[in-house]
Amino acid sequence: MTENTTQEDQWDSENYNTHASFVPKLGNTILAMLNAQSHERILDLGCGSGELTNDLAGQCAHVVGIDSSENMINKAIRIQRHKNTEYYVVDGQALSSWLTSKQIPLFDAVFSSAALHWMKEDPVAVIKGMHDALKPGGRMVVEAGGFMNVGEVHTALIQALNRRGLDGKSYSPWFFPSDVYYKQLLEENGFDVKDIALVPRPTHLNTDIAGWIETFGFTFLEALKTEQERQEAVREIVEQLRPGYQREDGSWHIMYVRLRVVAIKK
Ligand SMILES: C[S@@+](CC[C@H](N)C(=O)[O-])C[C@H]1O[C@@H](n2cnc3c(N)ncnc32)[C@H](O)[C@@H]1O
Repeated sequence: MTENTTQEDQWDSENYNTHASFVPKLGNTILAMLNAQSHERILDLGCGSGELTNDLAGQCAHVVGIDSSENMINKAIRIQRHKNTEYYVVDGQALSSWLTSKQIPLFDAVFSSAALHWMKEDPVAVIKGMHDALKPGGRMVVEAGGFMNVGEVHTALIQALNRRGLDGKSYSPWFFPSDVYYKQLLEENGFDVKDIALVPRPTHLNTDIAGWIETFGFTFLEALKTEQERQEAVREIVEQLRPGYQREDGSWHIMYVRLRVVAIKK
């Protein structure tokens, strides 16, 4: 079902599963922190292609998975393992109005892994949406990119565009807040923050930096006019990062910095 999305869908679940299957696997830490209970009804915000949502659905009574990408939601529906799961195409920044217009019952918990940093246009609307989704006393347990996340690739992408006369930073799709700033936003919007931390996580990529950029760096690449320009920029970034981020055995690693949060609706 498609609701409240206006942007073109730039996500490709096949690319995601090829180049980034580590993302849902590494989401297991935050899933364990959620500690879902068998009677609970839980919202998975930015559920993507549904691998982690399947695991969550095995632990609780009911799951609603929402994501702005129809492509990702279609894949999630194809691999759905539990009958207690519903999926919808919804922009997380329009969560409040979707909940009201569809009269969606309140949730015991909101869960999100590796998704909130993509909702850059209006992070406060996302926080308000999570607040509106919860029962009083309900919890949000989320992990997303935080301050300094994938800093080396992020900077290299921005600089590649700057060198071509563009304002590279303006093409970044990511909101990577510090723990201090995100705590303030949560407290200003009705949450009691129980735990918030930036956690560095060296991450072994499935493929290489070029595959990572193809999967996640699409907004930067789209700023370039021709396929040749795009390929040149990617080659340049790969060579810039190779000395620091390719291991002796040829595998590629980058430093993710995760913002992990547990907060309660007041
Ligand atoms: C890196 S994937 C993570 C997916 C999943 N949670 C997982 O762990 O595999 C990020 C997801 O955020 C979704 N996303 C990006 N912007 C969004 C928005 N404004 N509203 C809802 N979902 C969004 C993307 O479509 C994508 O599926």
